[in-house]
Amino acid sequence: MQTSPSVQSSHRANLASPVGMHAQSESLLELEVPGLAASIRQACLGEADLVPYRVRQALNQALDRASTQRLVKTIMSMPYSAQTYTRHLLYADPAGMFTVVALRWDPTQGSPVHAHYTWCAYRVLRGVLSESHFEYDRSIERAYLFNRVKRAAGQSVCGHGGMDFIHRLHNVSDQTAVSIHVYGMDAARISSHVNRIMAVSLRAETPSPVQEK
Ligand SMILES: [Fe+2]
Repeated sequence: MQTSPSVQSSHRANLASPVGMHAQSESLLELEVPGLAASIRQACLGEADLVPYRVRQALNQALDRASTQRLVKTIMSMPYSAQTYTRHLLYADPAGMFTVVALRWDPTQGSPVHAHYTWCAYRVLRGVLSESHFEYDRSIERAYLFNRVKRAAGQSVCGHGGMDFIHRLHNVSDQTAVSIHVYGMDAARISSHVNRIMAVSLRAETPSPVQEK
């Protein structure tokens, strides 16, 4: 893993993906998973500390086998990049409280190491992703790897914004993976105000321990 030059500001290229988001119909999510957008909206209106957990719960409750299969089939039929993972806009909350995107990860494709400016929740819909966790060392202003876990289809994760949740997602399998992500940000700023790209310490080259669960 290469060392990045510095932590990038929110006004610079802090996209998780260098490709543009493929905007489809904003009602795509409602077509494929009826009720999920409403459940997420309800979760967003609750106690702030609990929002990411309730959104994760909404994902888990709504995405049963049938709706997951429908959504994956639709995502797999959409345009994608052979070079980097591809994002598809599934739903933009009219009030701007949250945005839902689907990510397609072909083998070897991964995100940069990043923190979030806002809460997030995601669920793997197809395949297996590797999630690397990092801690931020304020003395050197860099993040270092301390753990790595597998996220298989059906698994979900959530977290608050801030430097306590720094991660990287990567498809190290030989099959295409698909995941659904919800961010506490309006769609207009989803590409610029969600991910904070992190500089990585060389200690990331020799993590100890690394767990593959
Ligand atoms: Fe993330």
